[in-house]
Amino acid sequence: METTVRNKQVILRDYVKGVPKQSDLMIVSNTLELKVKPGSSEVLVKNIYLSCDPYMGILMREPTPSTLALLDAFVPGKPIGGIGVSKVIDSDDPAFIKGDFVWGMVDWEEYSTIKMPMIFKIDVTINVPLSYYTGILGTLGLTAYAGFHEICSPKKGETVFVSAASGAIGQLVGQFAKLMGCYVVGSAGSTQKVDLLLNKFGFDDAFNYKEEPDFDSALKRCFPNGIDIYFENVGGKMLDAVLLNMNICGRIAVCGMISQYHLETRDIVNNLPNIMFKRIKMQGFLFMDFHDQLEKFYEFVHPLLKEGKLKYVEDIVNGLDNGPAALVGLYHGQNIGKQVLLVDAHMVL
Ligand SMILES: NC(=O)c1ccc[n+]([C@@H]2O[C@H](COP(=O)([O-])OP(=O)(O)OC[C@H]3O[C@@H](n4cnc5c(N)ncnc54)[C@H](OP(=O)(O)O)[C@@H]3O)[C@@H](O)[C@H]2O)c1
Repeated sequence: METTVRNKQVILRDYVKGVPKQSDLMIVSNTLELKVKPGSSEVLVKNIYLSCDPYMGILMREPTPSTLALLDAFVPGKPIGGIGVSKVIDSDDPAFIKGDFVWGMVDWEEYSTIKMPMIFKIDVTINVPLSYYTGILGTLGLTAYAGFHEICSPKKGETVFVSAASGAIGQLVGQFAKLMGCYVVGSAGSTQKVDLLLNKFGFDDAFNYKEEPDFDSALKRCFPNGIDIYFENVGGKMLDAVLLNMNICGRIAVCGMISQYHLETRDIVNNLPNIMFKRIKMQGFLFMDFHDQLEKFYEFVHPLLKEGKLKYVEDIVNGLDNGPAALVGLYHGQNIGKQVLLVDAHMVL
């Protein structure tokens, strides 16, 4: 095997203003020695899949005290990073050996040298595509599971609304809610996505929010008896309308607010007093709050996948060069399902 290789990387040019654009990122290539230094505790991996996630756009902006509560910002001139699925090439960490498949935090590049590894070993005897560890079997699955089950405290028969419902997290929350015996409605941004919600993921009802002039009317149509649980992915005007339609003692899990991340002036939410009037519990959360539940989540999700009781749609784009387009496409709803970037097709099991 060659000991020195070219290592393509996706670099942040400068802090981003407004919605991230492809031109905010550039592809560079450096040389890399395919060996870890003895005594370094480093792990060298070849990246196979990279996850495209909305939070990465927040990290492309100049950090503020608020965003630093989420994660450190990316550094202009350096590679961006996120969750990846990789194969160990060399290791000075006894927990990982050459040939292991792992998932965790890596930079957006072909090869990553990971110090203080934030990576987990993949059990390849579990017969699922490796790409699932960027989503359903990684942080996103845990986010959907813990956000819905822990924060929303769902009960059979309750009504559940999910926004960005056909996306990586939304599709899972909707199906978890159906498995609980809830009545589930989703919103999404195209006819094709609405069709997926109704005919693939088993939602009871769905609407294309881009074709609804009045979100309040759409929600009243879908929930004549009100909403018990709102799984919030978008924020802004949708949240405002949801607040008018929440039931007494309803729960809102704030998973994300993608419509607001890149606005210079954020939407005003007028209906917040409903939180008090209706004794609504509204709670934000991050997947890392629930990292200790990963095993419990696997015990829940593995049988569902094995028995075909859970559908999972991915949108896989091939090649690191196409990474910037795939990532910024999230902010325009271009992904159908979980957006994944395939970096090395030869490594796919
Ligand atoms: N709390 C956590 O730990 C955590 C972890 C991961 C993700 N999140 C958040 O969860 C949410 C969903 O993430 P995901 O990974 O599942 O992404 P995703 O839904 O697979 O992709 C993002 C989707 O957001 C929708 N969107 C984009 N711009 C929008 C806008 N201006 N208004 C309304 N919808 C818009 C688009 O769908 P449409 O075509 O349907 O509009 C797009 O496909 C995001 O807010 C994300 O930041 C939170």
